[in-house]
Amino acid sequence: MKFFIDTANLEDIQKAYKIGVLSGVTTNPSLVAKENIKFEDRIAEICREVPDVESVSAEVTPNAITAEEMITEAEELININEGDDKITIKLPMNLEGLEACRYLSGKGVKTNVTLIFTVNQALLAARAGATYVSPFLGRLDDISEDGVLLVSKIAELFRLQKLDSQIIAASVRHPDHVTRVALAGADIATIPFQVIEQISKHPLTDQGIAKFAADWK
Ligand code: G3P
Repeated sequence: MKFFIDTANLEDIQKAYKIGVLSGVTTNPSLVAKENIKFEDRIAEICREVPDVESVSAEVTPNAITAEEMITEAEELININEGDDKITIKLPMNLEGLEACRYLSGKGVKTNVTLIFTVNQALLAARAGATYVSPFLGRLDDISEDGVLLVSKIAELFRLQKLDSQIIAASVRHPDHVTRVALAGADIATIPFQVIEQISKHPLTDQGIAKFAADWK
């Protein structure tokens, strides 16, 4: 399973990129709004910070309601950094989003269909040519449903039906989510920097480092 970072915060992206485990970045309107900067400028900055990752997801804005409006926004986004094919257009999981996904995929543009909460939605997105599908597991857990189970069912379905879309486990909130979606067959987990930091740690590791340092003295 690969790691993407789920943020529009440049500092967090730089910190994660430095470690050398980052394969991509995902953003969404809520994450960009927190940054108080023009959306297109931040996407361009992110692309410059992480030149060799496979994907930077830029979501169409909530102003784009029809497929046509989504496609118009997508065309602006993919031209932010000319020739940069890592810009991935993130589209909402609805009929308009699927139509835009089919169109953009046909043009060779990477797509990420987001806000997926059922296996059927993932199947539709894959059939519409989505490069990535993003089930939101934390938000399912929030309503007492099993988010990891959804990821494992989608993974099983894609295997059985030989569908190429990659599964991005999104709305990942804590280290146990990371382990469980990896075992459930997610291709990617997109996680905030705080969770990347958490999964690098264990109290016995810290104690061991402290003991080695003490003994060395
Ligand atoms: O990648 C989707 C993510 O940003 C949503 O996370 O924690 O708001 O459910 P959360």
